[in-house]
Amino acid sequence: MLVAPSILSADFGNLAKEIKAICDGGCDLIHVDVMDGHFVPNMTIGPVVVNPVAKAATKPLDIHLMVENNTFFVELFAPLKPEYISFHIESEKHPHRLIQKIRSLGIKPAIVLNPHTPPSSIEYLIEDLDMVLLMSVNPGFGGQKFISSVIEKTKELKKLINKRNPNCLIQIDGGVNDKNIHELKDAGVDVVVAGSYVFGNDDYSKAIKSLQI
Ligand code: DX5
Ligand code: ZN
Repeated sequence: MLVAPSILSADFGNLAKEIKAICDGGCDLIHVDVMDGHFVPNMTIGPVVVNPVAKAATKPLDIHLMVENNTFFVELFAPLKPEYISFHIESEKHPHRLIQKIRSLGIKPAIVLNPHTPPSSIEYLIEDLDMVLLMSVNPGFGGQKFISSVIEKTKELKKLINKRNPNCLIQIDGGVNDKNIHELKDAGVDVVVAGSYVFGNDDYSKAIKSLQI
């Protein structure tokens, strides 16, 4: 299981130190939540803050867009050379076109599904994706309760992936901890995002390792 700590729960007054601590603690990716105050009822960070994050990072960035104007934000973050950019299927009129654009910039494209959105909504996009992110909370905030129906949804998505693109990874975001990690692994999850669980632990390295099962 790959682990991507979400810096939404980090101490933003000591961001470079926090980034170093999760990288030294053995994380696989650094999950960056970008919110525009329109698609979700919260706002976070833009390139002015993510740029020093990228400089302090020794692990690749995984940028999760929760925005209405995806193309604008893809162009804004592309110079930081993230490993992944994910966008919500619910906010994009032309997902196929945007996937090609992200790939043309040398970045791996991923699509995010909100808790109510079925895997069948991306059946004809899976072949072009490197990862699908299933939200296990409603997007916008850290520290929310895990929505357990995502387990069944993961199994359904896994079937589609096996049929259409076995290389595509499944990522889960929201309410992940050492209690539900085994169930997620058994359902076929490849990557977990964890914010409050990692940054709420005194020992980041121990928290990260407890999810790398
Ligand atoms: C929510 C974000 C998540 C969030 C996860 O919109 O996408 O990445 O930071 O936080 P936890 O792990 O605390 O649920
Ligand atoms: Zn996220």
